[in-house]
Amino acid sequence: MAMACSGHMPVEAAKPQPRTHFLACDSPSNSRKIFASSLHFLGKDPAPCRRFHASHIKNAPFARRSKLALVAMAKPDPLKIMLSGAPASGKGTQCELITKKYGLVHIAAGDLLRAEVAAGSENGKRAKEYMEKGQLVPDEIVVMMVKERLLQSDSLENGWLLDGYPRSLSQATALQEFGLQADLFILLEVPEEILVERVVGRRLDPVTGRIYHLKYSPPETEEIAARLTRRFDDTEEKVKLRLRTHHQNVEAVLSMYKDITIKVNGDAPKENVFAQIDNALSKLLEQGKATSGSLAA
Ligand code: AP5
Repeated sequence: MAMACSGHMPVEAAKPQPRTHFLACDSPSNSRKIFASSLHFLGKDPAPCRRFHASHIKNAPFARRSKLALVAMAKPDPLKIMLSGAPASGKGTQCELITKKYGLVHIAAGDLLRAEVAAGSENGKRAKEYMEKGQLVPDEIVVMMVKERLLQSDSLENGWLLDGYPRSLSQATALQEFGLQADLFILLEVPEEILVERVVGRRLDPVTGRIYHLKYSPPETEEIAARLTRRFDDTEEKVKLRLRTHHQNVEAVLSMYKDITIKVNGDAPKENVFAQIDNALSKLLEQGKATSGSLAA
């Protein structure tokens, strides 16, 4: 696994953090040297380069107060993560846990589509035809929907967690063309025979949006149990169609993200699955801190 490194904000990124790091120098010439060496560093290694806002560095203010100059060094980007896996592999469940800890904006292609279906929009009506058959909704509907959500201010500011996108080579290519690049691609692996049972037992709480399973993650109270709903595509017959679509596309998508992919065993209690993901995300953040440290040294 090759993971990008950068000046990531620490795990407390969920809380608002100052976005600019300042370095104190004893003279303007020293501060310029540091500034120049940071640019040299960025030029040498494309991975951290992605994580720095070039314009921020170019416009870094030089504040001269007696012999002290402050250089705006680098503005760390927040995490950008993709979570992929077969239907019912646990993407939504893990996204709940990841967003709770890391404060990323959860963007689920399936949720965006279901919202369109519920709103009865033209896109929603078209999308439902494909979702009913377990097929991919056409790119002209999905791609712009996801792009617009990724470019909203909360996603840019807090980082994003993309769930169920991209699902085809064309979707991955579109993302690349928009200049939207992830730090990590997580693939949840679960044996197929388990997936059908997970789908059939899944229930959703329309009030909290939480995902339950009648056997593996039952509702906490009678009140919650009484209001749980079922997705229209959560039948054994439909999940088999969704699985077929997944198998037709997964290798092509993986080929686009070889360098940033980690495979996670999703056939374990959800807390254990999260521990594997948490470990990878923590390492990513640690690498970021180390890079920031080496810049400041
Ligand atoms: P989407 O909504 O994304 O469905 P999916 O990919 O089939 O995935 P699911 O939401 O079914 O499962 P999940 O992996 O989130 O699992 P969950 O955590 O809920 O897409 C639906 C449709 O929209 C597609 O078929 C397609 O038509 C369309 N679409 C979506 N994205 C598209 C795109 N990019 N392009 C084109 N079309 C697109 O868990 C499932 C169950 O298992 C739950 O009950 C949960 O409690 C339980 N569970 C979870 N983890 C565990 C665990 N570790 N142990 C035991 N039980 C667990």
